[in-house]
Amino acid sequence: MVDTKSQYYKIKQEVDAAVISVLESSQFIGGKVLNDFAQNLANYIGVKHVIPCANGTDALQIAMMALDLQPGDEVITPSFTYIATVEAAALLKLQPVFVEVDPNTFCMDPESVEKAITSKTKAIVPVHLYGQATDMEKIMDIAAKHHLFVIEDNAQAIGCDYSFSDGRVAKTGGIGHIGCTSFYPSKNLGAFGDGGAIFTNDDTLVEKLKMIAAHGQSKRYYHDVVGCNSRLDTIQAAILDIKLKHLDEYNAARIKAADYYDKAFANNERVSIPYRALYSNHVFHQYTIILNDVQGSNHSREGLNQYLADKGIPSMIYYPVPSHRQKMFDSLGGNSFNLPITDWLSERVISLPIHTELDEEQQDFIISNVLNYINSN
Ligand SMILES: Cc1ncc(COP(=O)(O)O)c(C=O)c1O
Repeated sequence: MVDTKSQYYKIKQEVDAAVISVLESSQFIGGKVLNDFAQNLANYIGVKHVIPCANGTDALQIAMMALDLQPGDEVITPSFTYIATVEAAALLKLQPVFVEVDPNTFCMDPESVEKAITSKTKAIVPVHLYGQATDMEKIMDIAAKHHLFVIEDNAQAIGCDYSFSDGRVAKTGGIGHIGCTSFYPSKNLGAFGDGGAIFTNDDTLVEKLKMIAAHGQSKRYYHDVVGCNSRLDTIQAAILDIKLKHLDEYNAARIKAADYYDKAFANNERVSIPYRALYSNHVFHQYTIILNDVQGSNHSREGLNQYLADKGIPSMIYYPVPSHRQKMFDSLGGNSFNLPITDWLSERVISLPIHTELDEEQQDFIISNVLNYINSN
């Protein structure tokens, strides 16, 4: 699905030099390289503070801890997401309240959020799924009206721009009270291992977030609150700082590849191509299509997945089981949620390879095989 090796070879000299420089400095934890990366990322996202941490799941957990959410508090999240979004809430004994997604963007539906608010609701966690923004203006208005926190899960959409109705443009992750991201290697900004970061514009919250990520300590060996240990290695920061300079170019390559797929599939009634919302660009962490039910056809996404696999083409289903139907949420009433759009999508979505190194020859091979399968089944 990704080609991180070819991507590495294009920046090998720079990356190798940066890694060797960290090795020679022996500053493996913290230090200038880490701080510089955090500052450069803050400038890129347009936020005051970036707190690097060990991975995107930790980022979400630390964000929820810093907001002082208490057991039983309700956190509104989409069910159609990677499990980490919801798992962080459950770990802290918060009650996940699953809401529906927009059938076009696959992101949290603001109307569904408003309906789910109760006196116990404390936070909303929109997920910018596959690389496209949730309708953040609506989410922020709902949050302001009901005095709720917004934690953006930006793991799949780093570099994505959201446009407000007054023409203002902001990067996703920098719009809510806290933004979280992952540097998992296949992400649009991927490390050579695990990594994550937390974003905020709040000068008070930043101290709390930093404290929680560092064993709750305000000063070395003085632990004021229960925290955790979540750090981004300096070597990863050095690599990410180089890759950050290429992020816009990486996202442009993904968009170009998506445009190419779109053109090939646009006029085929058997397939729906990704919708592009007017308020957001799409940085295509995933290129996800839906196979439409057409009279007389007997194609299925499992059939397509197998057909492509037989030709040596990877394809993935993100995600076959929505969060509310995962066994881990049985005891939290997961199955009591009625989310027909989410269920429908999780039975139909299939993602094709998309990454910075994909060329037209490779795409032609993928496209002709997808078309072969859907047109003859
Ligand atoms: C939407 C979403 N949230 C959270 C995460 C968790 O990130 P990590 O794997 O770095 O913990 C991921 C990444 O896999 C993700 O896609």
